[in-house]
Amino acid sequence: MVDIKDFHRHVGETVGTQGWVMNTRSSKGLEFIILRDGSGFAQCIVDAANVSEQVFETAKNFTQECSVKLTGKIVADERQIGGFELHVTDAELVGVSDNYPISNKEHGVEFLMDKRHLWLRSKRQWAIMKIRNRIIFAIHNFFQNEGFVQADAPLFTGNAAEGTTTLFNVDFYGEDAYLSQSGQLYGEAMAMALGKIYTFGPTFRAEKSKTRRHLSEFWMIEPEMAFYNNEMNMDLIEKFLQFVVGDVLKHCKFEFEAIERDTAVLENLVSKSFMRLTYDNAVSILKGEQAVDGKTTIETLEADLAQVHAEINAKQAEIAEKEATIASGTVKKGQINFMQNKIDTLKNEIKELETQAENIPQWLNSAKSFEYGSDFGGSDETVLTRMFDVPVMVYNWPHEIKAFYMKRDVTGNFAKGVDVLAPEGYGEIVGGGERETNLDFLVGKIEEHKLPMEAFEWYLDLRKYGSVPHAGFGLGLERMVAWLCKLKHIRETIPFPRMYGRLKP
Ligand code: 4AD
Ligand code: MG
Repeated sequence: MVDIKDFHRHVGETVGTQGWVMNTRSSKGLEFIILRDGSGFAQCIVDAANVSEQVFETAKNFTQECSVKLTGKIVADERQIGGFELHVTDAELVGVSDNYPISNKEHGVEFLMDKRHLWLRSKRQWAIMKIRNRIIFAIHNFFQNEGFVQADAPLFTGNAAEGTTTLFNVDFYGEDAYLSQSGQLYGEAMAMALGKIYTFGPTFRAEKSKTRRHLSEFWMIEPEMAFYNNEMNMDLIEKFLQFVVGDVLKHCKFEFEAIERDTAVLENLVSKSFMRLTYDNAVSILKGEQAVDGKTTIETLEADLAQVHAEINAKQAEIAEKEATIASGTVKKGQINFMQNKIDTLKNEIKELETQAENIPQWLNSAKSFEYGSDFGGSDETVLTRMFDVPVMVYNWPHEIKAFYMKRDVTGNFAKGVDVLAPEGYGEIVGGGERETNLDFLVGKIEEHKLPMEAFEWYLDLRKYGSVPHAGFGLGLERMVAWLCKLKHIRETIPFPRMYGRLKP
């Protein structure tokens, strides 16, 4: 059996292949089958003139998503999906598929989420999972090549790491425990043993609201480095993200095409420095008090809004024109269908633009009235990153809004943390920083945050025995997938998402 991805090595040969039928089409003694096997997609042609009646009947009865074995000759054809075609000589049904619930028509997202176990078979979901896989591979490559050791943290924990409001409680043999929100604290211990480490595992946060950025279970990559300060940390983040983006662009061309992702923005940032802004600086840009390249956020967003209105008008005009043509009765039925589809697409696009037209003024208002000292909301991140075509690293945060373990700067007012905000409206993908090393200071912070001291005794030991400056960060894998694939919602970034209101399938 030959995988579709290996067809290029067998041109001219007659081979066996197996997979699932995505689509069938008949035309004058020919059956066209789009086959997928997980490795790729290929058009397979069954010609009644070249096969037995029985083989032709078998192929003719193939239904969407039935599984099959096909034998045929591989022919190169650039116009076809994947670049090759199979001229079938034999066909066999493996598993039937009657009334497959997902058709080519538009389905609602909730329906597709309920059918996630089947939806994963669609070309778009396949492409997203392949990109996710490549991102994971690139992440391991990067850290292993840089001399990091993968060292995983436990998932059952006795202590909170990222605030107590998002903890999932579990009963651990009668003891109160939580599902891990972050591997960081254990990562710090492991960095003191191994120098440079990274954890890569699932993390859990009870986020009791539905947003396009939050999952209850997500995968996080958390490197932690001994003898690192936050500047070195930021240099590493930049190098790391550039490597991963570059690698994925190189290896996932077909997948990006399949999801119609314009990768120009991504290509640009592989070799361009990221923007580094202190929190103070970011706030004044956000509020429109400081211009970027001669333009303030307010001017930029007002121009965006005007552009959105212009696009809506243009699309409405196009719809009116098409409707008039259809009404005139001068076009054929096939063409009417084609136009009707185009009208539906335009209407959907208008709906999206209208949402933007509603959002932009709200974003503007909240940006203008942003209160110094608070954390950035989703829309603030969108407005801020709108001003740059590379990721923005915001560092030196008011310590009050950052975690208990963060190191203070010399003034004592700022925490040496860094958030990386992705462009194109994706917002925070990385959170990290330098860790506090002073024992008394940390004890004070744990008290201030009302955390149980006893659960952190082991963590405090790290400051008693050979404490060194150290830093690290956490990348949310699904946020990275959402951004690189330019997905509207994080639910499509993971095979089986877990989020508020979604435990099945
Ligand atoms: O900013 P966070 O909370 O930082 C930490 O957990 C640190 N302990 C990391 C470290 O320094 N080792 O989370 C890090 C990243 C976020 O930037 C975001 O990408 C992702 O984890 N993240 C989520 N992704 C999906 N759903 C959620 N509910 C997420 N919460 C955080
Ligand atoms: Mg964060």
